Amino acid sequence: MPLPTQIPALSPSTINRQVRLIARPEGIPQAHHFALAEAAIPEPAEGQFRVRNIYLSVDPAQRGWASAEANYSQPVPLGSPMRALAIGVVTASRVAGVREGEYLYGWFGWQDHAVADPSAIILRANHALPLAQFGGLVGINGLTAYLALTRIGRPEAGDTLVVSTAAGGVGSLAGQIGKLMGCRTIGLTGSDDKVALCRSDYGYDAAFNYRTTDLAAALAQAAPGGINIYYDNVGGPILDTCLRQMAVAGRVVQCGTASVASWTPPPTGPRNEREILTRRLMWGGFVLFDHAAGFDAAVAQLADWYAQGRIDLRLEVLDGIEHAAGSIADLYAGRNSGKRLIRVG
Ligand SMILES: NC(=O)c1ccc[n+]([C@@H]2O[C@H](COP(=O)([O-])OP(=O)(O)OC[C@H]3O[C@@H](n4cnc5c(N)ncnc54)[C@H](OP(=O)(O)O)[C@@H]3O)[C@@H](O)[C@H]2O)c1
Repeated sequence: MPLPTQIPALSPSTINRQVRLIARPEGIPQAHHFALAEAAIPEPAEGQFRVRNIYLSVDPAQRGWASAEANYSQPVPLGSPMRALAIGVVTASRVAGVREGEYLYGWFGWQDHAVADPSAIILRANHALPLAQFGGLVGINGLTAYLALTRIGRPEAGDTLVVSTAAGGVGSLAGQIGKLMGCRTIGLTGSDDKVALCRSDYGYDAAFNYRTTDLAAALAQAAPGGINIYYDNVGGPILDTCLRQMAVAGRVVQCGTASVASWTPPPTGPRNEREILTRRLMWGGFVLFDHAAGFDAAVAQLADWYAQGRIDLRLEVLDGIEHAAGSIADLYAGRNSGKRLIRVG
């Protein structure tokens, strides 16, 4: 069985540091909504295993998990370690099929050590990839980009694909995958440096800074035949603009709503139903964890493209669990470039 590569050395630890949610955020969680606490290293009960986390994932979705707003998941209880994906190594197991020493990606939270049952496992790190990429390229970002684009965007060669958060974890991969499938790709991002990266590293045919560009005019020029697929990670006014540039029979992938500050009360804007009707659009919402049956095939495809040098994901790894608390706010301020992970080994 192939093994993950580039595994950091682990220092022994005798306590379990946890980043706990201590206040319910309204809007975007800030560092002060969390506290670093210490607990004993937990022992697995029968049917459980224990992992020592190595990389903690930082994801925009954590805003929803921390919030009391209606969501697709239950809010994280106050006082608990923040819900998070993580990559860890199994240090004790009392369950068949989970071996000590194996590397797993799953729901292990923002903490050094976690006990869990096998339902917490998303992936076993059994491809020859850098270990950290199990939390990115073949983790939540790559799986989302691949499955949402192929299942809802349904790209065909020659399609024009527009992607928002184009320089981020999901967006940079959605652009590269679209390109591999024969699309013309246009990226929207929030700084000139990221625009440059979209062009130089992520293969976009065109890229625009949505903060400084008249997007309607730029898209009309860059996509004169209209947008066939809009992969939307932001919602709000950028979505409103893209809808008015869609080609007939275009597809909108609703993957994220990062630009909407709060849903309480729901924000108002231009009415969009006329655009959907007259352009005969298909608008599909996507939640990754509905698509678990497709993970193995998606991982195999992404790992194969990576091995062939046809796809990559820029990682932004911060050292130390103390960086976790402020990291969700960083994502919503665009202060990340690529997939952010926190190394706690
Ligand atoms: N539906 C699912 O199952 C699923 C799964 C994973 C991720 N997602 C979604 O995919 C999107 C990207 O996630 P990611 O993990 O790859 O994060 P990311 O793109 O690496 O980081 C988030 C990015 O959002 C952009 N952003 C923040 N506030 C914005 C605003 N007001 N307007 C426009 N852009 C804004 C920033 O990029 P700029 O600097 O370019 O503005 C920031 O870098 C998120 O919306 C996330 O919720 C959905």
